[in-house]
Amino acid sequence: MTDVTFILHDGTRRIVDVADGISVMQAAVMENIKGIDGECGGCLSCATCHVYVESLEAGELPAKDPDEDALLEGVAAELRPESRLACQIVMSPALVGLVVRVPERQV
Ligand code: FES
Repeated sequence: MTDVTFILHDGTRRIVDVADGISVMQAAVMENIKGIDGECGGCLSCATCHVYVESLEAGELPAKDPDEDALLEGVAAELRPESRLACQIVMSPALVGLVVRVPERQV
């Protein structure tokens, strides 16, 4: 189990303890994190799980799949260098200290 901190659009912080192998999107949906929808269930077709990773360097995260990069081009909120799709970040102890910010909107 590894903690993930979600910073909601209103600045509220929620800390969720997530089992290894569970994606950040799945954890957010299970914990009713407002602003992460995960409409496609994690099959890389909706981009409603867009987050900004605040705590880790890009190299510390799992590498972006080309399909993730392509889908990020269509996100509703501002695209930033730290943008990721939460369904593609699978929790493991390597991600200790992970903090993600939820964008203003997903659609
Ligand atoms: S949940 Fe659909 S792309 Fe992440």
